[in-house]
Amino acid sequence: MQSTMWAALGAAVALLGTGSPMAAQHEAHLPAGPTRAVAVLVPTAGSTVHGTVTFTAVEGGVHITAQLEGLAPGNHGFHVHEFGDCSAADGASAGGHFNPAGAPHAGPDAGTRHTGDLGNVSADTQGMASYDRLDSTVRLDGPNSVIGRGVIVHAAPDDLTSQPTGNAGGRVACGVIGVAK
Ligand code: CU
Ligand code: ZN
Repeated sequence: MQSTMWAALGAAVALLGTGSPMAAQHEAHLPAGPTRAVAVLVPTAGSTVHGTVTFTAVEGGVHITAQLEGLAPGNHGFHVHEFGDCSAADGASAGGHFNPAGAPHAGPDAGTRHTGDLGNVSADTQGMASYDRLDSTVRLDGPNSVIGRGVIVHAAPDDLTSQPTGNAGGRVACGVIGVAK
């Protein structure tokens, strides 16, 4: 009886020492809540830009895709903004870049950046742009969760440097990030 108990205790200690922390870390990658989110982008006043942005939780972050049209050819700043509020005609109600860590503005591959810093979308001569990125900062749960925040497409390129917005100009489309199936 007692030897059985000691054997069980030994097995538990062995688990704690090796397998258990790795298993916990593995589980931590995927949120317990929503694993997909979507934003339908609508034009701001005077704009024709519209499209869809999807967010899918994956191992190591969130896979972000976008399909946009109605853009002027070239690069356009593309960010998650603090508020999921597109009620203002110019999109200003979406606030500044989503920045829960209080970091400086930067490009999406910078070590330190706004959570919302997704860089640029690049429109072709037909005004269409697609975006596809596995982002390791954006999350669908916890303090970096983008659910309920806004997505903004800008008139000008994000230079990935200027503070606090990348000098990306006006807002040409806005959408609210909502839970998806
Ligand atoms: Cu922006
Ligand atoms: Zn930023």
